[in-house]
Amino acid sequence: MLKVEDNILITRIGKGTPMGDMFRRYWLPVLKSDEILPDGKPVRVKLLGENLVAFRDSEGKVGLVDEKCPHRGTSLAVGINAGCGLTCIYHGWKFDVHGNCMELPSEPKMSNFKNSIHLTAYPVQEQNGIVWGYLGPKEHQPPLPNFYWMGLPDNQLLVERVWQECNYLQVMENDLDFVHAAFLHKALDTQDVKGGLLSTDLGIDPAHPLVRNPPVKQSVEPTNYGRRCIAVGEGDETSYAFMEIHYIFPFYTFPPRFGGEDGMWHAFIPRDDYSTWSWDVQFSHAKPIDARGQHERRGLILDEQLKKLRNLSNDYEQDRELMKAGNFSGIRGIANQDHAVTETMGPIVDRSLEHLGTSDMPIIQMRRMLLEQVRRFQDGKSLPRLQDIPLETLYSNGKYDSREKEWNEVIPLADAFAVLAKNS
Ligand code: FES
Ligand SMILES: [Fe+2]
Repeated sequence: MLKVEDNILITRIGKGTPMGDMFRRYWLPVLKSDEILPDGKPVRVKLLGENLVAFRDSEGKVGLVDEKCPHRGTSLAVGINAGCGLTCIYHGWKFDVHGNCMELPSEPKMSNFKNSIHLTAYPVQEQNGIVWGYLGPKEHQPPLPNFYWMGLPDNQLLVERVWQECNYLQVMENDLDFVHAAFLHKALDTQDVKGGLLSTDLGIDPAHPLVRNPPVKQSVEPTNYGRRCIAVGEGDETSYAFMEIHYIFPFYTFPPRFGGEDGMWHAFIPRDDYSTWSWDVQFSHAKPIDARGQHERRGLILDEQLKKLRNLSNDYEQDRELMKAGNFSGIRGIANQDHAVTETMGPIVDRSLEHLGTSDMPIIQMRRMLLEQVRRFQDGKSLPRLQDIPLETLYSNGKYDSREKEWNEVIPLADAFAVLAKNS
């Protein structure tokens, strides 16, 4: 449980709020590169409460700019994207990807008014088919973090961006919740499980150790990138299943995976206080990914705005006959199941009313870290520097091993991720 004031502190992300300003010190995935074409339609993207527009100019350069024209506020999402700039359809003011005013035809030719006009534009970088943006102060701009999957060829990746209709924190908490898989994602015993341990259209393979039983034990350890969460689940008579989740500050995760499974990376980027861009990168370590199969297993059907067709307004098309037949939630698709439980809490859950148990430890630890860091940030202290950490070697591992062994013996933390004593 959190005090009401801490819940407000940790969930509000607008410009000028402590969390909002802290999050602005980190790179955010903005949209997929193929969502914007040279001279194509600009795309509205709301990020951290700011209404922005992304566009790709005639030369392929990407702009991430304020949606509102600085003249009188018309949306540049309905602007003309041509001639290496975005032109407002109201009076023809034109801007390049850096926000410089290229043309201001509504004023007399002799006027140098144009030179005083600037459209807010944020730095962007493209990597692995994703446009990343940085919304913070220029002097604090870090390099783009180098996540493990960024070193893989594009045909080994599947990237999805979805509009999730609740605050980022309850979405991220769900990702650190080992226990829910044994309930929410429990599916029919008789289903045809395609591709081994991964989820099917109905849920996750019932034989998966996370689904068969809740973990017998969980641990969380501080690391230099955030927190490593470990679950020890039932294996067979002599073995346990050891699985890890990495929480990378402030809003990235690697959910639990076994060796041999495709990997998964998530980012939970606040759209505003009440909605989230949920990013999912599925990656295959050594062979082309089964992109279609992975997409189907998640079960998301999206409209043009990347909102779900199965949503709160239709109770996620919950099927009570399916439920009676053994699908625990009655909802099809693992991602739909996750969305249903987080969105039905309401846009921002009141954490002063909850009753957390020992099984909620990873969530408690992640919240604690966010609160500690935002207070440090308010005191002018430094934040975790992802650029100093070899993230390119980090992903979630999992394996079966002897019941006699400790979790940190089975999956030890590499020295490169240990917290140095001075930072603890
Ligand atoms: S409002 Fe955009 S040019 Fe006038
Ligand atoms: Fe889940």
